[in-house]
Amino acid sequence: MTHAIGITDISAATTSLFFPLTSLAEAQGTSPGKYLRGIGQHEMSVPGDDEDIVTLAARAAAPIIERHGTKEIRTLVLATETGIDQSKAAGIYVHELLGLEHNARVVELKEACYSATAALQFALGIVARNPDEKVLVIASDIARYELDSSGEATQGAGALAMLVSADPAIMAIEPASGLFTENVHDFWRPNDRSTALVDGRFSVTVYLRAVTAAYDDYVSRGGAEFSSIARMCFHQPFTKMAAKAMQTLAKHAGAQSVASAVSSLEETMIHNRRLGNTYTASVYMGLLSLLENAELGAGERIGIFSYGSGAVAEFFAGTLVEGYREHVRPGALTVQLDARREIGYEEYRERHIRADRTGDYETRAEGKGPFRLAGVRESVRVYEKA
Ligand code: CAA
Repeated sequence: MTHAIGITDISAATTSLFFPLTSLAEAQGTSPGKYLRGIGQHEMSVPGDDEDIVTLAARAAAPIIERHGTKEIRTLVLATETGIDQSKAAGIYVHELLGLEHNARVVELKEACYSATAALQFALGIVARNPDEKVLVIASDIARYELDSSGEATQGAGALAMLVSADPAIMAIEPASGLFTENVHDFWRPNDRSTALVDGRFSVTVYLRAVTAAYDDYVSRGGAEFSSIARMCFHQPFTKMAAKAMQTLAKHAGAQSVASAVSSLEETMIHNRRLGNTYTASVYMGLLSLLENAELGAGERIGIFSYGSGAVAEFFAGTLVEGYREHVRPGALTVQLDARREIGYEEYRERHIRADRTGDYETRAEGKGPFRLAGVRESVRVYEKA
């Protein structure tokens, strides 16, 4: 018997601080309209001293573990481009914080913002072979660019966890998938850097090229026509990027009204406008926002476009399951977003510089989540329950 396989639970987390883009514009002498309307961003989440991708990942996944337990989870895949170790998978710390079973595997995946989609595909394959097993996929990132660079306004932080299983409660993922890979230097972070290097305008061009290429590959492999996809979620380095992507794709696919296709994205942007870029988590933050805020029915098809600089892209789709909304915890991420403490420009810059510290250190207790990074002791990261 063939089972539907897909997302059976989804939960997100963010940090304890935020920096408004109006404050950035004011300090730079830039018009706030450039950020609020031009790139479509209002705020960026900023990590507290004791928050990192591990505490964010565990905070995102904790409600899923509370609901489903640990017994059936045989795999944890953590997607990130904010690696904390060149060798050890960050997910091993998350495994311990969540109390997962010892007979579960843990691995980290990397390809810029794309790798959570690779993790999801990996999970679908595992569940197809072993329908009794569940896979926990977590995307967790802190997006950092250099101070005073063009990318500065598109920083952010957050994590999103998805539980993948047979007979999913939220969305069944369809088998058709469209792919695109090209060796480019639009955005990358060499090993000796803590902030990304980016050719901003070029990155937008490659992203748009990848949208049509991945979509064409999707259609050629039996994917659904544009008109039979009810809503779409695009990777959102900034929300305006999704609007540009939809405009390009709708024209390319011969949509009847490009304007209404673009405005149909609104419900996917509610969280991302406040989080900033969450790299690997971003497209799935868009999906969560859509699931929480749109009126959609069972069987409706959601298209997903995932993009990672460098570059790899994928277009695929899923169909909503009857009663999906009962499983998505509407408002839970908004509570975290509302609870963040606002910081000013001087504090934002001090924290940006402090985040580059190396060696051993102890952290200040600032995080609002259930887990914290206590410090680095003899080169070992020490996490604890808050
Ligand atoms: N009111 C309204 N709009 C205004 C405005 C005002 N007062 N002033 C400017 N604007 C508009 C501009 O017209 C422009 O809109 P269009 O793109 O629609 O023409 C928009 O605001 C941005 O202005 P600029 O293009 O001048 O901005 P910039 O060059 O300083 O920075 C950016 C834009 C290059 C994207 C920069 O934010 C950046 O480098 N970001 C990081 C890279 C990135 O996110 N790339 C996206 C694709 S790569 C990817 O997706 C992977 C990833 O996650 C990084």
